[in-house]
Amino acid sequence: MISKLRAAISRQLSQPTGVGGRVVAALMNRGNRDLNRRAIDLLDVGRSARALDLGFGGGLALPLLLERAAHVTAVDRAQDMVAAAAARHADDIAAGRLTVLAGDVGALPLDDGSVDRVLTVNTVYFWRDLESALRELRRVMRPGARLVIGIRDGVVMERVDHDIFTIRTPTDLAVALGDAGFDEVDVASAADRKTHLLAATNAR
Ligand SMILES: C[S@@+](CC[C@H](N)C(=O)[O-])C[C@H]1O[C@@H](n2cnc3c(N)ncnc32)[C@H](O)[C@@H]1O
Repeated sequence: MISKLRAAISRQLSQPTGVGGRVVAALMNRGNRDLNRRAIDLLDVGRSARALDLGFGGGLALPLLLERAAHVTAVDRAQDMVAAAAARHADDIAAGRLTVLAGDVGALPLDDGSVDRVLTVNTVYFWRDLESALRELRRVMRPGARLVIGIRDGVVMERVDHDIFTIRTPTDLAVALGDAGFDEVDVASAADRKTHLLAATNAR
């Protein structure tokens, strides 16, 4: 029973869908606020930036990015999250400041070199092939563009379903970022070590 519940919640976190997905999205918007805020600070988004939020879920980071960037692209594989964000941000979309798209990190619906800031928080656990996902992110980033990845530490994710979540350490990510061709890879762990941020630059 508990393992079924654990699998159901883990599945919703990996791809929020339907009523359960809306509940999980609201919880994520509350529980992930601090990590997203710190990730956006580290991302250093300037007024002219074209930012991408990959795996935006409940969309808590979108208003924060819209306050800073010239344009924001939001991509998520969950159709229900895409529909909800598109409805919530109809004005930003009409104003040409936001594009919301369904898509997977394995094959992003974006042109080469089209973004210069990429945020992705609490998503890498669901990527089957980490290095090819990072290479795909690099493809859509212009040379010199910056990426920030936010993760929770494995110690705070003991109760997730490990068939759905692949726990990745900051070292796993730093190595994969280097192998995928990113430069200036930097790890910033929270004082309690429960969360980590990785920043990296697309090689010029
Ligand atoms: C745990 S939620 C995190 C949402 C948000 N970034 C936050 O910090 O609250 C993970 C989100 O990433 C999306 N996602 C997972 N794997 C993905 C993939 N391969 N490509 C695109 N989106 C993905 C899921 O659909 C989900 O909305």
